Amino acid sequence: MNRQIQFLVFTLTLLPLLLVQTSATNPLFIFGDTILDVGNNNYIKTIIDAQANFWPYGITFFDFPTGRFSDGRLICDFIAEKANLPLIPPFLQPGNPDFSNGVNFASAGAGALVQTFQGKVINLHTQLRNFKKVEVMLSEKIGEVEAKKMVSKAVHLFSVGADDYMAVVNSTLFSGFTAPQYVNMVIGNLTSVITEIYRRGGRKFAFINVPQVACMPELRNENVHGNGECLKEAWIYPILHNQALGLALAQLELELPGFKYSLYDLYTHLQHMIEQPSKFGYKEGKTACCGTGEYRGIASCGRVSEFGNFELCKDVNDYVFWDSTHLTDKAHNMFAIEMWSNKTGSLSYGSYTVKDLFRLP
Ligand SMILES: *[C@@H]1O[C@H](CO)[C@@H](O)[C@H](O)[C@H]1NC(C)=O
Ligand SMILES: *[C@@H]1O[C@H](CO)[C@@H](O)[C@H](O)[C@H]1NC(C)=O
Ligand SMILES: *[C@@H]1O[C@H](CO)[C@@H](O)[C@H](O)[C@H]1NC(C)=O
Repeated sequence: MNRQIQFLVFTLTLLPLLLVQTSATNPLFIFGDTILDVGNNNYIKTIIDAQANFWPYGITFFDFPTGRFSDGRLICDFIAEKANLPLIPPFLQPGNPDFSNGVNFASAGAGALVQTFQGKVINLHTQLRNFKKVEVMLSEKIGEVEAKKMVSKAVHLFSVGADDYMAVVNSTLFSGFTAPQYVNMVIGNLTSVITEIYRRGGRKFAFINVPQVACMPELRNENVHGNGECLKEAWIYPILHNQALGLALAQLELELPGFKYSLYDLYTHLQHMIEQPSKFGYKEGKTACCGTGEYRGIASCGRVSEFGNFELCKDVNDYVFWDSTHLTDKAHNMFAIEMWSNKTGSLSYGSYTVKDLFRLP
């Protein structure tokens, strides 16, 4: 064969491979609460407590307030980076956001139950409806077959439940329910959403379990009779939830052919950081960097409240908590690293790390 032809044959066989390689990054769909909301709540009618689109949110990384409840990035931003994806845009971002790498539906304050902070958040069921809208948009753009393929290749990342438990503590909402009954209802609603995404072709799921809300600066601050201990009334919910979540996911894996998941144990890892901050490179595990009052636990970061102007710590890298209920960029990064590839950092239920899920076809 003549050299030029050889070269041409070589290029023609290799070129499609290269193209497949570069477009083969699996998309990321994101659902749930404040841990993952990258700005959807900027665009809804809500209360200021459910928004973070003002200074000093965003000071460490973006240099402007994006709506993320952090000084910088969230776990999903770090996961996207590790998966070689750009930042995944919020569903409600105006203009014509590019959803070809995935979409973020999460909303600060959202629970699995419709009643959780109702009217102020985009609850999980509405997030599912928004997911269906995106499916239609994608079908119109790339065709039904390709859109379906995208959903089945995608990793669907969830963080939900913490707000259902924050909302029920000292509230008359569901006052006739025992804690196990309430938790079962939350898990039941989460399971129904997962099952619906599976029915529409979703196969790969990543979950972050619920942190111990009782030990967040806000609830420590409310615990006026407890000398700043974790708030007793809230304690049992995350524990029951995480047990039930592990069992529910193992059950789904048995029932749904091809259902693959990873479950990250945020609860245990955050508790360790709170108890022994210096072991993880922090000076302070209990008090927030930004806020007012004991533990800076009054949710007033960036605002003047009835308790006076808010305080901001000197070096955010010394802190696990950024504000009264949210974590710092540095903590999110640590969690994302473990979640991505460290199996010993995961609960034993899931057989995959998030990295595995992205590598699967
Ligand atoms: C979902 O939550 C509602 C309350 O919002 C409850 O009535 C219903 O039983 C729950 N569904 C499941 C499957 O648990
Ligand atoms: C919850 O209610 C109990 C009983 O009414 C009260 O002692 C406690 O201080 C309340 N806790 C919060 C966080 O409001
Ligand atoms: C994985 O996580 C465990 C527990 O957090 C930690 O001790 C270990 O060093 C981590 N391994 C790697 C390779 O990061």
